[in-house]
Amino acid sequence: MTGLVVAMDGPSGSGKSSVSRGVARALGLRYLDTGAMYRAMTWWMLRQGVDLADPAAIAARCGEPGIVSGTDPDAPAIHVDGVDVAGPIREAEVTGGVSVVAAVPEVRALLVALQREIIGTGDIVVEGRDIGTVVWPDATVKIYLTASAEARARRRSAELAGSTVEAQQQAMARRDTLDSTRKTDPLSMADGAVELDTTALNLEEVIAEVLRLVAERTEAD
Ligand code: DC
Repeated sequence: MTGLVVAMDGPSGSGKSSVSRGVARALGLRYLDTGAMYRAMTWWMLRQGVDLADPAAIAARCGEPGIVSGTDPDAPAIHVDGVDVAGPIREAEVTGGVSVVAAVPEVRALLVALQREIIGTGDIVVEGRDIGTVVWPDATVKIYLTASAEARARRRSAELAGSTVEAQQQAMARRDTLDSTRKTDPLSMADGAVELDTTALNLEEVIAEVLRLVAERTEAD
C-alpha cells in the first residue's frame, strides 16, 4: 500500500514551496520540488546551447542529462550529471526559459516518469503544476494553492533582490499563461482538489490548514 502523498499544485508565487516544506517537516515526510526538475532540464539545455525556440531540438536531447533530485525538506538538493545546480536554476535566464522547455511533451513524459519513481511508496509532499492531475491522481490529499496576482508578485520580488513588484507581476503573468495554455498537462485544478486562497493568510496559517485537511483525509480512511 502506498503511503501518504500530498499533491501541492498552483501557479508561481502561490506559496507552494514554503507550504510544502513546512507540511513535510511537520509530518516527517519527504519533499519533492518538480519545478526544480524542469528548471534543471532548462539549465542543461541552455548550457548545451540548445535553441529553446526549437521544440524538436529540446525533445531530441532531453534524455541526455542525468537529473537527480533530493527529497529532504530541510535541504532541497538538485544535481545534473553530478553538478549542484540549486543556485543556477533560480537565475533569470532559466526562469525566463523554463515554461518553453516544460511545454515539450517529451520533456514532460521523461520527468513525470522520474517523479513517479521518486514518489514510489509515498510519504511525500510533491509540489508542481500537474501532480494531482497527471503525476499522482490518487494522491491522499490534493491542494490547489492560489493567491491574487499582486500578492504572488509581491512575494516573489521580496525573494529576489533588485526586482520590482510590477516587473515580477508581468513576468509571472507571462509564465502562468504559458503554463496554463500549453497542450500537454497544463496547470489546472485536479478533480477532488481543495482550493486554498492564501492571499490573506500567513505561512503558518496555510500550513495549519493543509495539516487539518491531511488529518481529516487520513482519519476518514
Ligand atoms: O514552480 P517553479 O516556478 O519552480 O516551476 C518552474 C516551471 O516549471 C514553471 O514555469 C512551470 C513548470 N512546471 C511544470 O510545468 N510542471 C510541474 N510539475 C512543475 C513545474
